[in-house]
Amino acid sequence: MTIWIPRLAETGPRYRAISDAIAAAVQSAELAPGSRLPPQRRLADALGVTVGTITRAYAEAERQGWVHARVGSGTYVRGGDDDPVAPFLASRPVEDGVVDLSLSLPPPHPWRAAALGRALAAISQDEGVLRRAVEYQPERGVPAHREQLAAWMGRLGLPVPPERLLITQGGQHGIDLTLRALTRPGARIAADALTYPGLISAARQAHIKALPVPLDAAGMDMEALARLCAQQPPQLVYVTPEQNNPTGAMLSEARRERLAELAERHEFWILEDGVQYLPDAERGTPLYRLAPQRTLFAFSTAKVLAGGLRIGVLVVPEALQERLGAALRAQSWMVPPLMVEAVCHWVASEDAERLLSWQTQELGERQRLAHERLGNYAPSGRPHGSNLWLPLPEGVRAAELLASLEARGVRLTSAEPFCVGSEPAPQAVRLCLGAAASREALARALERLIETLDEPPPSPWRTL
Ligand SMILES: Cc1ncc(COP(=O)(O)O)c(C=O)c1O
Repeated sequence: MTIWIPRLAETGPRYRAISDAIAAAVQSAELAPGSRLPPQRRLADALGVTVGTITRAYAEAERQGWVHARVGSGTYVRGGDDDPVAPFLASRPVEDGVVDLSLSLPPPHPWRAAALGRALAAISQDEGVLRRAVEYQPERGVPAHREQLAAWMGRLGLPVPPERLLITQGGQHGIDLTLRALTRPGARIAADALTYPGLISAARQAHIKALPVPLDAAGMDMEALARLCAQQPPQLVYVTPEQNNPTGAMLSEARRERLAELAERHEFWILEDGVQYLPDAERGTPLYRLAPQRTLFAFSTAKVLAGGLRIGVLVVPEALQERLGAALRAQSWMVPPLMVEAVCHWVASEDAERLLSWQTQELGERQRLAHERLGNYAPSGRPHGSNLWLPLPEGVRAAELLASLEARGVRLTSAEPFCVGSEPAPQAVRLCLGAAASREALARALERLIETLDEPPPSPWRTL
């Protein structure tokens, strides 16, 4: 049997050259996730080095997070089906065999942990960084960090001036901060009738009334919003223009322009949420560019790097800088500078780009798979989005479907948590395609979903 033989750099210690070659081969997919590295003795013979050198190289590659050793079995590239790394995150413990598609997570990959490890290792050796990290910092973040984060956003196709940027503890914090700073209890805000539950929850906590605006495949119905404004304009309108969570609807360009115009005319703020990342080519014109004096833009590292980092960005109009800064100071003085340092290091490295391009491709594959399998049921989801929305066939109730699926080891979410105000929930479910541990796990879950959908619905004739 032929084995993988790396081409080694000529300089530096041999073990290091081998571990670097492993890292490069994993990143270029020359070594596929789950594949086995050559037995140590065979590789030692092929490269003309000692077995000890190979052992050390494999240990180094494992320390960096590219591979993992299984006692008595060999060393494997991370990301395989039976990788012992737990799925990235789950709010409930995930039992064996259960595919939990209820949380909107980026697809799990050991690179995330490995990249964080590299960023932490690098900053822990940097005295300047450490000195900065133990000091109180300005509430909006130090200028160097804001510049680095603005440059990163620019590379993602979201150019923002660094001086308009405030560093937050994630997208949810940006939303809550905006509501706290710009509204008072009893205020009215408007949002898509189905929207991100974190907005609904933040509004409730702040005793703000969220008013539902109908939406269709082109996003929020601007004429319905205009009618609402004619009665009494809301103080703020929350939108997710690139992809509504949960339906995936994208706000059309014409509606974006109309929203900007309504915001000017009725003097409401726009809170634009771009946390659910999509590649540049799939996005429209951001509202923070169409209505820069009226729009706050919430962005986060959560769906691009990792949710646990809790670092985000809020882009704030000039006139609101002081107000938002004061609100952040009142909450927590500042975002923990050490995490900001780690994120700034990470986004400046090749790790960030590599991870995102893998993730974009992976989500594209998962969307294709789900659209192909569920084609008969007319699902909707953006080509590289994390979520898929599935209106249920006539007669199928979401609550019953969810219960049947749970018994078969698949977790989805109904429309209920996304409903603004007391709007009735449509009979539909959201599948978070990114949350599956692997494409195979996703395919299994889709199979079980189709089996359940294909069963005749239970008779509703249960009571007199
Ligand atoms: C639309 C939207 N906004 C905000 C968030 C929260 O982001 P973060 O984890 O950075 O707080 C999420 C998380 O799923 C989301 O889907």
